[in-house]
Amino acid sequence: MEVVEILVLAHRGYSHIYPENTMLAFRKALEAGADGIETDVQVTKDGVLVLIHDDDVSRVSDGTGRIKDLTYEELLKFDFGIKKGPQFKGEKIPTLQELLNLVKDKDILLNIEIKYGSFLYEGIEEKTYRMVKENGLMDKVIFSSFNHYSCHDLKEIDRDCKTGILYSDGIYKPYKYAEELPADAIHPYRLLVSRQIVDACHRRNIKVNVWTVDDFKEAKMLMDMGVDCIMTNKPKEMMEFLGVG
Ligand code: G3P
Ligand code: CA
Repeated sequence: MEVVEILVLAHRGYSHIYPENTMLAFRKALEAGADGIETDVQVTKDGVLVLIHDDDVSRVSDGTGRIKDLTYEELLKFDFGIKKGPQFKGEKIPTLQELLNLVKDKDILLNIEIKYGSFLYEGIEEKTYRMVKENGLMDKVIFSSFNHYSCHDLKEIDRDCKTGILYSDGIYKPYKYAEELPADAIHPYRLLVSRQIVDACHRRNIKVNVWTVDDFKEAKMLMDMGVDCIMTNKPKEMMEFLGVG
């Protein structure tokens, strides 16, 4: 039987040590040997795809305001490193294009989480899809979203693009739901996984990608259950503990 190693994805980059969702955190994740990167995409007032988790910049930068109300040029005036520590001063908000440039020659998996969907950003699914497609990187990317309409819309655009349904509350028989939507993977919160769910997914060729796993023993349990991928803020430490990578 083929043994497939668990993949370790750097959640928002190597965000335990470096400022989350910055090019520095993404570069450091790859240098640490992570199998891939998880990131969050949103759209600026002038239509630029940028990588940030919150819809407001104040937690992670010295600026204020919401992404949808700020232009890319306005966002460039804010510092996205300083809140993590003075040594990170000068980090800018990255664009999706900058991250795609970084990963294009690398053998990695990129998980792009589509934030909020059309509620805040009309057409974000197609815009993100097009950028990945135009860069020729569709084989490296899985799109995910808590907004399952976004996952569904992506499959309407291209049945072959890979999608994962994110959830933080239990879904009854998530493997059946994923099959029906359809989606290629489930992306459950870490405490919502069981061996039964993993096996039922795998029988249907559905991947199980779990977030956010920073506890090493919990990661080992998930690995023993057979999950395909964990997303962690500590990719280097996690790979060392699990003996993978
Ligand atoms: O994609 C996994 C995880 O990032 C989902 O939650 O809130 O960290 O984006 P959140
Ligand atoms: Ca995310």
